[in-house]
Amino acid sequence: MSSSYGKNLNVTIFGESHGAGIGCVIDGFPAGFSPDMKAILDFMSRRAPGLTPGSTARREADVPEVLSGIFDGHTTGSPIAVLIRNGDHHSADYAALAQIPRPGHADYALAVKTGGANDIRGGGHSSGRLTAPLCFAGALALQYLATRGVSVSSRIVAIGGREVSGETDATGLDAAARETIEAARREGDSVGGIVECVVTGLPAGYGAPIFDGVENRVAAIVFGIPAVKGIEFGSGFAGSALRGSENNDAFFHDADGAVRTRTNNHGGILGGITSGMPLVFRVAIKPTPSIAKPQQSVNLVTGKDCELVVKGRHDACIVPRARPVVEAAAALASLDLLLDPPPRAH
Ligand SMILES: Cc1cc2nc3c(=O)[nH]c(=O)nc-3n(C[C@H](O)[C@H](O)[C@H](O)COP(=O)(O)O)c2cc1C
Repeated sequence: MSSSYGKNLNVTIFGESHGAGIGCVIDGFPAGFSPDMKAILDFMSRRAPGLTPGSTARREADVPEVLSGIFDGHTTGSPIAVLIRNGDHHSADYAALAQIPRPGHADYALAVKTGGANDIRGGGHSSGRLTAPLCFAGALALQYLATRGVSVSSRIVAIGGREVSGETDATGLDAAARETIEAARREGDSVGGIVECVVTGLPAGYGAPIFDGVENRVAAIVFGIPAVKGIEFGSGFAGSALRGSENNDAFFHDADGAVRTRTNNHGGILGGITSGMPLVFRVAIKPTPSIAKPQQSVNLVTGKDCELVVKGRHDACIVPRARPVVEAAAALASLDLLLDPPPRAH
Protein backbone atom coordinates (compact mmCIF):
# COMPACT_ATOMS: atom_id res chain seq x y z
CA MET A 1 0.00 0.00 0.00
CA SER A 2 1.58 3.24 -1.08
CA SER A 3 0.30 5.38 1.80
CA SER A 4 1.23 2.90 4.55
CA TYR A 5 4.62 2.34 6.15
CA GLY A 6 6.15 -0.05 8.65
CA LYS A 7 6.46 -3.72 9.56
CA ASN A 8 5.71 -3.52 13.28
CA LEU A 9 4.48 0.03 13.70
CA ASN A 10 2.20 0.57 10.74
CA VAL A 11 1.43 4.18 9.83
CA THR A 12 -1.19 4.99 7.20
CA ILE A 13 -1.60 8.56 5.97
CA PHE A 14 -4.93 9.62 4.47
CA GLY A 15 -6.65 12.69 3.10
CA GLU A 16 -6.30 15.44 0.52
CA SER A 17 -5.06 18.99 0.94
CA HIS A 18 -8.45 20.60 0.26
CA GLY A 19 -10.75 17.73 1.24
CA ALA A 20 -12.58 17.46 4.57
CA GLY A 21 -9.42 16.54 6.42
CA ILE A 22 -6.13 14.69 6.60
CA GLY A 23 -4.83 12.28 9.18
CA CYS A 24 -3.16 9.04 10.06
CA VAL A 25 -3.81 5.66 11.61
CA ILE A 26 -0.95 4.35 13.75
CA ASP A 27 -1.25 0.60 14.34
CA GLY A 28 1.11 -1.36 16.57
CA PHE A 29 2.09 1.44 18.96
CA PRO A 30 3.02 -0.05 22.37
CA ALA A 31 0.24 0.02 24.97
CA GLY A 32 0.43 1.90 28.26
CA PHE A 33 2.41 4.90 27.05
CA SER A 34 1.27 8.36 28.20
CA PRO A 35 1.95 10.87 25.43
CA ASP A 36 2.65 14.54 26.13
CA MET A 37 0.11 16.13 23.75
CA LYS A 38 1.54 19.63 24.20
CA ALA A 39 4.96 18.39 23.04
CA ILE A 40 3.30 16.78 19.99
CA LEU A 41 1.63 20.09 19.09
CA ASP A 42 4.91 21.97 19.58
CA PHE A 43 6.65 19.53 17.27
CA MET A 44 3.91 19.85 14.64
CA SER A 45 4.12 23.65 14.79
CA ARG A 46 7.70 23.46 13.47
CA ARG A 47 6.25 22.12 10.20
CA ALA A 48 3.34 24.57 10.03
CA PRO A 49 3.45 27.21 7.29
CA GLY A 50 4.00 30.90 7.90
CA LEU A 51 6.78 30.54 10.47
CA THR A 52 9.84 30.72 8.23
CA PRO A 53 10.96 33.23 5.59
CA GLY A 54 9.57 32.44 2.16
CA SER A 55 6.95 30.26 3.78
CA THR A 56 3.41 30.15 2.42
CA ALA A 57 0.95 32.57 3.96
CA ARG A 58 -1.61 29.78 4.32
CA ARG A 59 -2.50 29.43 7.98
CA GLU A 60 -3.42 25.96 9.12
CA ALA A 61 -4.84 25.44 12.55
CA ASP A 62 -3.60 21.84 12.36
CA VAL A 63 -5.47 20.72 15.45
CA PRO A 64 -5.19 16.94 15.64
CA GLU A 65 -8.26 15.15 17.01
CA VAL A 66 -7.43 11.75 18.45
CA LEU A 67 -10.35 9.50 17.55
CA SER A 68 -9.10 6.23 19.01
CA GLY A 69 -6.24 4.35 20.63
CA ILE A 70 -5.59 6.79 23.50
CA PHE A 71 -7.77 6.45 26.60
CA ASP A 72 -7.38 8.03 30.03
CA GLY A 73 -4.14 9.65 28.84
CA HIS A 74 -2.42 6.46 27.72
CA THR A 75 -2.12 4.42 24.55
CA THR A 76 -4.34 1.34 24.58
CA GLY A 77 -2.44 -0.75 22.03
CA SER A 78 -5.25 -0.49 19.49
CA PRO A 79 -4.94 1.67 16.35
CA ILE A 80 -4.49 5.39 17.07
CA ALA A 81 -6.59 7.34 14.55
CA VAL A 82 -5.89 11.05 14.21
CA LEU A 83 -7.90 13.55 12.18
CA ILE A 84 -6.83 17.07 11.22
CA ARG A 85 -9.73 18.93 9.65
CA ASN A 86 -8.90 21.21 6.73
CA GLY A 87 -9.82 24.85 7.02
CA ASP A 88 -8.10 27.70 5.19
CA HIS A 89 -7.93 26.74 1.53
CA HIS A 90 -8.34 28.48 -1.81
CA SER A 91 -9.40 25.71 -4.16
CA ALA A 92 -10.21 28.16 -6.95
CA ASP A 93 -6.45 28.79 -7.27
CA TYR A 94 -6.17 25.24 -8.60
CA ALA A 95 -8.97 25.17 -11.18
CA ALA A 96 -6.59 25.65 -14.15
CA LEU A 97 -4.22 22.91 -12.97
CA ALA A 98 -6.66 20.16 -13.92
CA GLN A 99 -5.87 21.10 -17.51
CA ILE A 100 -2.38 22.57 -17.25
CA PRO A 101 0.00 20.61 -14.98
CA ARG A 102 2.62 22.40 -12.91
CA PRO A 103 6.17 21.58 -14.00
CA GLY A 104 7.89 19.73 -11.15
CA HIS A 105 4.69 18.85 -9.31
CA ALA A 106 2.75 15.57 -9.28
CA ASP A 107 -0.21 16.95 -11.32
CA TYR A 108 0.79 15.49 -14.71
CA ALA A 109 1.93 12.05 -13.59
CA LEU A 110 -1.11 11.63 -11.31
CA ALA A 111 -3.52 12.70 -14.05
CA VAL A 112 -2.04 10.06 -16.37
CA LYS A 113 -2.07 7.36 -13.69
CA THR A 114 -5.66 7.97 -12.59
CA GLY A 115 -7.14 8.99 -15.93
CA GLY A 116 -7.81 12.42 -14.44
CA ALA A 117 -9.70 11.09 -11.40
CA ASN A 118 -7.20 12.55 -8.90
CA ASP A 119 -8.17 15.38 -6.53
CA ILE A 120 -6.19 18.25 -8.02
CA ARG A 121 -7.07 20.81 -5.35
CA GLY A 122 -3.98 21.90 -3.47
CA GLY A 123 -1.99 18.96 -4.77
CA GLY A 124 -4.56 16.51 -3.35
CA HIS A 125 -2.98 13.50 -1.66
CA SER A 126 0.48 14.58 -2.96
CA SER A 127 0.44 17.85 -1.07
CA GLY A 128 3.14 18.74 1.46
CA ARG A 129 0.24 19.20 3.85
CA LEU A 130 0.02 15.42 4.22
CA THR A 131 3.26 15.63 6.21
CA ALA A 132 1.31 17.14 9.16
CA PRO A 133 -0.10 13.75 10.28
CA LEU A 134 3.32 12.21 9.64
CA CYS A 135 4.65 14.74 12.16
CA PHE A 136 1.98 13.71 14.69
CA ALA A 137 2.99 10.06 14.35
CA GLY A 138 6.69 10.96 14.40
CA ALA A 139 6.35 13.16 17.49
CA LEU A 140 4.58 10.32 19.31
CA ALA A 141 7.33 7.89 18.26
CA LEU A 142 10.01 10.38 19.41
CA GLN A 143 8.54 10.47 22.90
CA TYR A 144 8.48 6.70 23.14
CA LEU A 145 12.02 6.44 21.77
CA ALA A 146 13.22 8.81 24.49
CA THR A 147 12.16 6.20 27.08
CA ARG A 148 14.44 3.71 25.27
CA GLY A 149 17.39 6.15 25.25
CA VAL A 150 17.03 7.01 21.56
CA SER A 151 16.98 10.62 20.33
CA VAL A 152 16.73 12.29 16.93
CA SER A 153 18.26 15.60 15.88
CA SER A 154 18.75 17.40 12.58
CA ARG A 155 20.29 20.45 10.99
CA ILE A 156 20.05 22.23 7.67
CA VAL A 157 23.36 21.65 5.87
CA ALA A 158 22.77 23.73 2.74
CA ILE A 159 20.23 26.04 1.12
CA GLY A 160 20.27 26.76 -2.61
CA GLY A 161 23.68 25.08 -2.99
CA ARG A 162 25.28 27.17 -0.24
CA GLU A 163 26.53 25.66 2.99
CA VAL A 164 24.73 26.80 6.15
CA SER A 165 27.65 27.56 8.43
CA GLY A 166 26.73 30.70 10.35
CA GLU A 167 24.73 31.02 13.54
CA THR A 168 21.33 29.44 12.98
CA ASP A 169 17.90 30.40 14.32
CA ALA A 170 15.21 28.01 15.57
CA THR A 171 14.29 27.07 12.00
CA GLY A 172 17.88 26.04 11.24
CA LEU A 173 18.69 28.94 8.91
CA ASP A 174 21.61 31.37 9.11
CA ALA A 175 21.55 34.94 7.75
CA ALA A 176 22.98 33.98 4.35
CA ALA A 177 20.41 31.20 3.91
CA ARG A 178 17.59 33.59 4.79
CA GLU A 179 18.88 35.99 2.16
CA THR A 180 19.16 33.21 -0.44
CA ILE A 181 15.50 32.30 0.17
CA GLU A 182 14.39 35.91 0.16
CA ALA A 183 16.21 36.60 -3.13
CA ALA A 184 14.50 33.59 -4.75
CA ARG A 185 11.11 34.72 -3.44
CA ARG A 186 11.62 38.27 -4.80
CA GLU A 187 12.30 36.76 -8.23
CA GLY A 188 9.20 34.57 -8.08
CA ASP A 189 11.44 31.55 -7.74
CA SER A 190 12.35 28.89 -5.17
CA VAL A 191 15.37 27.05 -3.71
CA GLY A 192 15.99 23.62 -2.19
CA GLY A 193 18.53 22.31 0.26
CA ILE A 194 19.97 19.49 2.34
CA VAL A 195 18.94 18.28 5.81
CA GLU A 196 21.18 16.06 7.94
CA CYS A 197 19.55 13.82 10.52
CA VAL A 198 21.20 11.90 13.37
CA VAL A 199 19.63 9.16 15.51
CA THR A 200 21.61 8.37 18.65
CA GLY A 201 21.09 5.52 21.09
CA LEU A 202 20.06 2.80 18.62
CA PRO A 203 21.53 -0.47 19.91
CA ALA A 204 23.70 -2.62 17.63
CA GLY A 205 22.20 -5.61 15.86
CA TYR A 206 18.89 -4.31 14.49
CA GLY A 207 18.08 -4.55 10.79
CA ALA A 208 18.90 -7.17 8.18
CA PRO A 209 20.98 -7.71 5.05
CA ILE A 210 19.85 -7.32 1.42
CA PHE A 211 16.29 -5.94 1.07
CA ASP A 212 15.28 -5.30 4.66
CA GLY A 213 18.24 -3.26 5.80
CA VAL A 214 18.20 -0.10 7.87
CA GLU A 215 19.03 1.96 4.75
CA ASN A 216 16.09 0.37 2.91
CA ARG A 217 13.68 1.03 5.76
CA VAL A 218 14.82 4.60 6.38
CA ALA A 219 14.85 5.44 2.66
CA ALA A 220 11.33 4.01 2.21
CA ILE A 221 9.81 6.45 4.69
CA VAL A 222 12.06 9.41 3.82
CA PHE A 223 11.03 9.14 0.15
CA GLY A 224 7.46 9.36 1.41
CA ILE A 225 8.19 13.02 2.09
CA PRO A 226 7.24 14.98 -1.03
CA ALA A 227 10.15 16.85 -2.69
CA VAL A 228 12.81 14.48 -1.29
CA LYS A 229 15.06 13.54 -4.19
CA GLY A 230 18.10 11.95 -2.60
CA ILE A 231 19.42 10.29 0.53
CA GLU A 232 22.92 9.34 1.60
CA PHE A 233 24.10 7.48 4.69
CA GLY A 234 27.34 8.21 6.52
CA SER A 235 30.07 9.46 4.19
CA GLY A 236 27.65 8.76 1.31
CA PHE A 237 28.63 10.03 -2.13
CA ALA A 238 31.76 11.78 -0.81
CA GLY A 239 32.89 8.44 0.64
CA SER A 240 33.08 7.00 -2.86
CA ALA A 241 36.07 9.29 -3.49
CA LEU A 242 37.98 8.02 -0.42
CA ARG A 243 40.42 5.14 -0.07
CA GLY A 244 39.22 2.13 1.91
CA SER A 245 41.82 2.98 4.55
CA GLU A 246 40.23 6.43 4.89
CA ASN A 247 36.60 5.37 4.73
CA ASN A 248 36.80 2.36 7.06
CA ASP A 249 35.96 3.14 10.68
CA ALA A 250 38.42 1.52 13.08
CA PHE A 251 36.85 -0.48 15.93
CA PHE A 252 37.86 -0.12 19.57
CA HIS A 253 36.49 -0.99 23.01
CA ASP A 254 35.26 2.02 24.97
CA ALA A 255 35.66 2.48 28.72
CA ASP A 256 32.61 0.26 29.34
CA GLY A 257 33.96 -2.48 27.08
CA ALA A 258 31.44 -1.75 24.31
CA VAL A 259 32.59 -2.01 20.69
CA ARG A 260 32.61 1.43 19.05
CA THR A 261 34.25 2.99 16.00
CA ARG A 262 36.69 5.91 16.04
CA THR A 263 34.99 7.59 13.08
CA ASN A 264 31.48 7.16 11.69
CA ASN A 265 31.78 7.11 7.92
CA HIS A 266 29.47 4.09 7.92
CA GLY A 267 26.71 6.26 9.45
CA GLY A 268 25.76 3.64 12.04
CA ILE A 269 24.88 0.91 9.49
CA LEU A 270 27.03 -2.06 8.44
CA GLY A 271 25.50 -4.66 6.13
CA GLY A 272 22.03 -3.19 6.64
CA ILE A 273 22.34 -3.67 10.43
CA THR A 274 22.85 -1.07 13.17
CA SER A 275 26.40 -0.94 14.55
CA GLY A 276 25.55 0.94 17.73
CA MET A 277 27.08 4.15 16.37
CA PRO A 278 24.77 7.10 15.57
CA LEU A 279 22.64 6.61 12.46
CA VAL A 280 23.53 9.52 10.16
CA PHE A 281 21.83 10.38 6.88
CA ARG A 282 21.40 13.41 4.66
CA VAL A 283 18.37 14.23 2.54
CA ALA A 284 18.27 16.32 -0.65
CA ILE A 285 15.11 18.43 -0.95
CA LYS A 286 14.33 19.97 -4.30
CA PRO A 287 13.24 23.59 -4.87
CA THR A 288 9.48 24.08 -4.40
CA PRO A 289 7.90 23.26 -7.77
CA SER A 290 5.12 25.88 -7.53
CA ILE A 291 6.82 29.18 -8.36
CA ALA A 292 5.36 32.56 -9.29
CA LYS A 293 7.48 32.94 -12.45
CA PRO A 294 5.70 32.06 -15.70
CA GLN A 295 6.62 28.55 -16.85
CA GLN A 296 6.14 26.46 -19.97
CA SER A 297 3.55 23.69 -19.72
CA VAL A 298 0.93 21.89 -21.81
CA ASN A 299 -2.84 22.07 -21.94
CA LEU A 300 -4.02 18.47 -21.60
CA VAL A 301 -7.50 19.37 -22.94
CA THR A 302 -6.60 21.45 -26.01
CA GLY A 303 -3.39 19.51 -26.74
CA LYS A 304 -1.45 22.77 -27.11
CA ASP A 305 1.74 23.94 -25.43
CA CYS A 306 1.11 26.96 -23.23
CA GLU A 307 2.40 29.25 -20.51
CA LEU A 308 1.42 28.67 -16.91
CA VAL A 309 1.38 31.17 -14.08
CA VAL A 310 0.87 29.27 -10.82
CA LYS A 311 -1.48 31.00 -8.41
CA GLY A 312 -1.90 30.29 -4.73
CA ARG A 313 0.47 30.53 -1.80
CA HIS A 314 3.66 28.50 -1.86
CA ASP A 315 6.90 28.42 0.09
CA ALA A 316 9.96 29.86 -1.69
CA CYS A 317 11.84 27.19 0.27
CA ILE A 318 10.28 24.21 2.01
CA VAL A 319 13.50 22.97 3.63
CA PRO A 320 12.91 24.50 7.12
CA ARG A 321 9.43 22.98 7.18
CA ALA A 322 10.63 19.64 5.80
CA ARG A 323 13.29 19.40 8.53
CA PRO A 324 10.93 18.26 11.33
CA VAL A 325 9.29 15.91 8.83
CA VAL A 326 12.67 14.24 8.25
CA GLU A 327 13.03 13.89 12.04
CA ALA A 328 9.53 12.39 12.22
CA ALA A 329 10.38 9.90 9.48
CA ALA A 330 13.62 8.96 11.26
CA ALA A 331 11.71 8.45 14.52
CA LEU A 332 9.09 6.21 12.90
CA ALA A 333 11.72 4.13 11.08
CA SER A 334 13.73 3.81 14.32
CA LEU A 335 10.75 2.72 16.39
CA ASP A 336 9.64 0.26 13.71
CA LEU A 337 13.18 -1.15 13.80
CA LEU A 338 13.28 -1.39 17.60
CA LEU A 339 10.00 -3.33 17.57
CA ASP A 340 11.76 -6.09 15.58
CA PRO A 341 12.78 -9.18 17.56
CA PRO A 342 15.86 -8.18 19.60
CA PRO A 343 19.30 -9.30 18.39
CA ARG A 344 20.65 -12.62 19.79
CA ALA A 345 23.16 -11.79 22.51
CA HIS A 346 26.54 -13.49 22.31
C1 LIG B 1 6.48 20.46 4.19
C2 LIG B 1 6.30 20.50 2.69
C3 LIG B 1 5.63 21.57 2.11
C4 LIG B 1 5.48 21.65 0.72
N1 LIG B 1 4.84 22.73 0.19
C5 LIG B 1 4.77 22.85 -1.15
C6 LIG B 1 4.18 24.02 -1.73
O1 LIG B 1 3.75 24.95 -1.03
N2 LIG B 1 4.10 24.09 -3.09
C7 LIG B 1 4.60 23.09 -3.90
O2 LIG B 1 4.53 23.22 -5.11
N3 LIG B 1 5.17 22.00 -3.38
C8 LIG B 1 5.27 21.85 -2.03
N4 LIG B 1 5.86 20.72 -1.52
C9 LIG B 1 6.46 19.72 -2.42
C10 LIG B 1 5.44 18.96 -3.27
O3 LIG B 1 4.43 18.39 -2.46
C11 LIG B 1 6.16 17.88 -4.12
O4 LIG B 1 7.25 18.44 -4.79
C12 LIG B 1 5.20 17.26 -5.13
O5 LIG B 1 4.23 16.48 -4.44
C13 LIG B 1 5.86 16.37 -6.16
O6 LIG B 1 6.50 15.29 -5.55
P1 LIG B 1 8.07 15.04 -5.74
O7 LIG B 1 8.73 16.37 -5.64
O8 LIG B 1 8.46 14.13 -4.60
O9 LIG B 1 8.27 14.42 -7.09
C14 LIG B 1 6.01 20.61 -0.11
C15 LIG B 1 6.68 19.53 0.48
C16 LIG B 1 6.84 19.47 1.87
C17 LIG B 1 7.60 18.33 2.48
